[in-house]
Amino acid sequence: MNPVWTLEKKRDAAELSDAEIGHFIAGYAAGDIPDYQMSALAMAIFLQGMTPAETASLTEHMLASGVTFKWPNDGLPKVDKHSTGGIGDKVSLVLAPMLACCGLQVPMISGRGLGATGGTLDKLESIFGFRTDLTMGEIVQVVDKVGCVITGATADLVPADHKLYALRDVTATVPSIPLITASIMSKKLAEGLDALVLDVKFGSGAFMKTLESARELAQSLVETGNRMGVKTTALLTDMNQPLGRMVGNAVEVDEAVAALEGSGPADLMEVTLALGTELLLSVSSDSKNPPPSQRGDRGGFVAAANLARKQLQETINSGKAREKFAEMVAAQGGNLDIPRPVAPKSEILATQSGYVASIDAEQLGQAVIAMHGGRRQLGDKLDHSTGFEMQVRLGDHVDVGQPLAFVYVPKECSNEGKAKVAKAIHLDEEFPTVGDLVMNCTVDI
Ligand code: URA
Repeated sequence: MNPVWTLEKKRDAAELSDAEIGHFIAGYAAGDIPDYQMSALAMAIFLQGMTPAETASLTEHMLASGVTFKWPNDGLPKVDKHSTGGIGDKVSLVLAPMLACCGLQVPMISGRGLGATGGTLDKLESIFGFRTDLTMGEIVQVVDKVGCVITGATADLVPADHKLYALRDVTATVPSIPLITASIMSKKLAEGLDALVLDVKFGSGAFMKTLESARELAQSLVETGNRMGVKTTALLTDMNQPLGRMVGNAVEVDEAVAALEGSGPADLMEVTLALGTELLLSVSSDSKNPPPSQRGDRGGFVAAANLARKQLQETINSGKAREKFAEMVAAQGGNLDIPRPVAPKSEILATQSGYVASIDAEQLGQAVIAMHGGRRQLGDKLDHSTGFEMQVRLGDHVDVGQPLAFVYVPKECSNEGKAKVAKAIHLDEEFPTVGDLVMNCTVDI
């Protein structure tokens, strides 16, 4: 099959067959189709879009480029949560141990910071000794022993995405719904899951700036996951301000530990509980024979949202989720008891009074990068000790001289990060409209 014919077809907005997509992706992964032809296809997809059937086929062939996890038939549902990326998003650190305490197994393959958004692996690496490069064998062992693991992708897990993602990054083809769907879902499906929940973020600190575009992405992800046999649901969550107060690496781990100890900020807990509830309900409707300790009143894992929430909250109240997190950290070589580095603190004070009218969350993400808490280019070494702590939320009223944020940055570092934080928080005389934090996303499948 000549790849040029496939390019012509997509260029002219025709629907590609499964065989055409399969041939292209297999050829690209094997090195037989060069980067320039793959770039041309990515741009044609970006411009012409894909039907749900084409998107599912692309996902399936990307998945087939690598290995997938095979789990023992032990009746323990394998689940995961994936976020499309935000500022201050440390939900994975809190949710994975909570789910493990509810009898689910969580093989969470996470990523590093992308654009202005922070990465779960970068945060976890601020824990002394913590390894994010586990082999597939080690991942299986930690899941079996602890119930949850958070680590990076191994080289043989969806290699086609590894190559294609790097290419998209330099060919202006990242923000394409079919390409994002295939990229995210191929990696999640390789985990061999029973259920997946997606946290699709919208707003100033998200890839999807509007609720409408986030909904479109969520629908594509949910439809593709379910087509491929994984019970997939999604929530749309607001990213017009950071989630929680802390943004950075070590400071976010500290906030996640505080959340596991029962003193997490309300917005972080709300998103965590909502996503966890989705998963417990998904496995409840799937699971035929849950362990007795996990049975809800109606015989499933949990029968209703309020029971699921209660069960998740109990993992925090009992201290079990905190213990589970420490167990996971130890199994991955880390030591939670060694204090994490935190740079000296300085304050950003309000220079006028008014309401916090808007927050440029993307600018806040850029501030962390300016403080070396994120990468400007591949291979940059991170300073895990930097970051900031929000002292205000949208709609708060502040007086002149009141702190807007505390910034953690070494004295020798330039003022760029601090200036970006100050610039990102806008005050006004008018009280702003503040939308819902969590919204359901219904998809007809
Ligand atoms: N995250 C991914 O893994 N892939 C994308 O294309 C976008 C976000």
